[in-house]
Amino acid sequence: MKKKLLVLCSVLMIAAMAVALTACGGKSGGGDTPAPAGSGADSGEAKTLSMATNAAFPPYEYMEGNEYAGIDIEIAKAIADYMGAELVINDVEFGSIIGGVQSGKYDMGIAGMTVTEERLQSVNFSDTYSTGVQVIIVKEGSTIASVKDLADAKIGVQMDTTGDIYCCGDFGDDHVTEFKTGADAVQALITDKVDCVVIDNEPAKSFVAANEGLKILDTAYTVEDYAICIAKDNEDLLNTVNAALKDLKASGKLDEIISKYIN
Ligand code: ARG
Repeated sequence: MKKKLLVLCSVLMIAAMAVALTACGGKSGGGDTPAPAGSGADSGEAKTLSMATNAAFPPYEYMEGNEYAGIDIEIAKAIADYMGAELVINDVEFGSIIGGVQSGKYDMGIAGMTVTEERLQSVNFSDTYSTGVQVIIVKEGSTIASVKDLADAKIGVQMDTTGDIYCCGDFGDDHVTEFKTGADAVQALITDKVDCVVIDNEPAKSFVAANEGLKILDTAYTVEDYAICIAKDNEDLLNTVNAALKDLKASGKLDEIISKYIN
């Protein structure tokens, strides 16, 4: 009886390992897939891959109960699996991700993060894995109809995001109110503290779907590339992450992850 149970347990464990790659949520990665040759990763010893994110940015990263979920979480897990490492997720303020990666506190930052010239001064970015568009959310019936109307509007943004940086640059700091999360900015729109919110399109869709009376304007503000940031002195990890991304793209796994969250 005991033996049977043991056999059953092993079978279940193997099955669990097989689905680990496609599993969603959870705080740790699958774990012990050996690093493919040429990935630059050491084999044998147990190791971890720590990521920093800001898990209030659906569908890229968000909480589903107590579990992390979203495109970036699954991509990070797949990269950790590729490396044979255990993924450690740190949920931090968006504006502290780059500094934390730079100082070596986290191995990488993956947070729907846009590649910008300015950020490239501080960190390296992996190959891009997704595209974002800054869009404008308004209340239904709003007089704001296009980007140029933002010049007279109170704009809500998530602090330290490209939406924040571009709006401050284009319309002046006085026009921009910064919030800790995109959801807080949307809440301020609902309660008329701001006239619109500038944020990435996919989170915008999630927020509009979750709240009545909001809409996304047809006019896009900017188009951007998302990538993973890594410390400049960690070329090895940059190469490994790019190799992992290449593998995920070639196998169709990346598309599979993205289309699970975005139609
Ligand atoms: N793409 C924008 C940027 O890089 C916003 C990203 C916000 N991400 C987040 N997880 N809150 O600035």
